[in-house]
Amino acid sequence: MASIYPSDRLKAILETIASSLGYQIRLLPLGRERRPKPADDEIMVPLPDFGLQAEILAPPDRLDSISNLIRNLAAEIRHQEQESLSLTEEIVERYQQLAILFEMSERLGQARDYGARARAVLQTALESADASGGCLLLNGQELTLYFLKTETDEERQHLLNLAQKTNQSGQTSVDEHRHIALPLLVSHRGQVGSLALGPRNRGQYRSGDLKILSTLGAYAALLIDSDRLYRDLENMFFGTVRSLVEAIDAKDPRTRGHSERVRQFSLLIAQGLGIEVAEVKRLELAALLHDVGKIGLPDTILNNRGDLSPEQWSLVKQHPQMGVAIMAPVSHVQDILPAIGEHHERFDGQGYPAGKAGREIALFARIIAVADAFDAMTMERTYRTTFTREQALEEVARNAGTQFDPEMARLFCQRMASSV
Ligand SMILES: [Fe+2]
Repeated sequence: MASIYPSDRLKAILETIASSLGYQIRLLPLGRERRPKPADDEIMVPLPDFGLQAEILAPPDRLDSISNLIRNLAAEIRHQEQESLSLTEEIVERYQQLAILFEMSERLGQARDYGARARAVLQTALESADASGGCLLLNGQELTLYFLKTETDEERQHLLNLAQKTNQSGQTSVDEHRHIALPLLVSHRGQVGSLALGPRNRGQYRSGDLKILSTLGAYAALLIDSDRLYRDLENMFFGTVRSLVEAIDAKDPRTRGHSERVRQFSLLIAQGLGIEVAEVKRLELAALLHDVGKIGLPDTILNNRGDLSPEQWSLVKQHPQMGVAIMAPVSHVQDILPAIGEHHERFDGQGYPAGKAGREIALFARIIAVADAFDAMTMERTYRTTFTREQALEEVARNAGTQFDPEMARLFCQRMASSV
C-alpha cells in the first residue's frame, strides 16, 4: 500500500528511478552540505517543500535532466498532497455540518411547540459556534424574540440591534465587538428572521464558523417557515371548523354558541389537569366538533319544543356515531374521533352509544361530557328545565362518579367556583 506521507512517496519513486537507471540518489535534510564543492558527476537538488535535498550521482551529461525530473516529481507530489488536504478539510467541514444538523434535528424532534423549536435552533447555533450568547429574531404577524445566555441588558440590546439591522439589510455581518449576525433566508419567501451571536468564548469567528452557521441558518429558516405555514393552515382549519359548527348550532336558536361554550368549559378542565399546549389544541378541536353529527338530524327534531318520540330520541342518540362517520375521512382529526363518538358515554356505563365505563371512555370525551352537560343545563332547552349556574354546578357535583368522571367534575366545579 502506498505511504500516506508525501516524503515517503517521493523517496520510493526516487529509489525506483535510481535502481532502474543505475544512478545513486539520496534524500538528505535540506541545508546539509556533504562537501564544500561537489564533484562533476554530483549535484544537490533542493526540495524546500519537503525540507529535503536530493543528492544525485550520475553521468555529468544526465545531471540536468535528472534534476528537472526530480523537481517536477516533487512539485506533482506536493500538488497532490495539497488537493488531498483540501479534500480532507472539506470532508471534515461537511461532517461538522451534518453533526450540527443532526443535533438540531434531535432537539427539534423533542420540541413541542414553535417557541421550543426556535430555542432549539438558537441553542444549536450557540454551541456550534461556541458563542457566548445569542438572539433569534423571527418575522411573522409580529416579531418574536428569543435570547439565550445573554445576561446583561447592554448585551441583549446590542444583539437585538444587530439582529434588527440584519433583518433589514439581509446581509451577514461581523461587528467590531466580534459579534456576528446572519439573515435566515428561504428562497421562495425571502427573509424569515435573523440570528445574532455574541463573541466566541475562545478566539474570533473564522470563515469555517460562518459557513457552518449559514448552513444551520438555511436549514432553520426552512423549518421555521414550514412551522409558520403549518400554523397558518391550522388557523385556517380551525376557522373552517368554527364556521361549520356555528352553522350547526344556529339551526336551533336556543343552542347558538353551544359548541364554543363547550370548548371554553373544556379548557377550564384542561388547565386543571395541566395538559400540554399541543394536546389542549386537540381538545379544543374535539370540543368544537363534538356535536358535528347533529348536522344530519332533521330540523323538525332540532327545533322540537315538545317531547321527542322514542323514534326521534333514537335518531338523536345516533349523533355521536354520525359525527365520527362525518369526520373519519379527515386525516387531521383522527386522534379526536373517540372524543366525538364517546361524549355521551357515562362514567357508570349507562351512557350511549357503546355503554363504555370509567377510563374506557376517552379522556377528552370525559372532559367534554362535563362541559356539554353544564352548558345544556344552563341554556334554554326544549326537554329540560333550565338551571341557574349554581344549580347546574351542584348537579355536576351530584353526578360525579355516576354520569361524570369524578376527577373532571371536581376540577370543573373548582375552576368555575374560582372564576366567578
Ligand atoms: Fe352531543
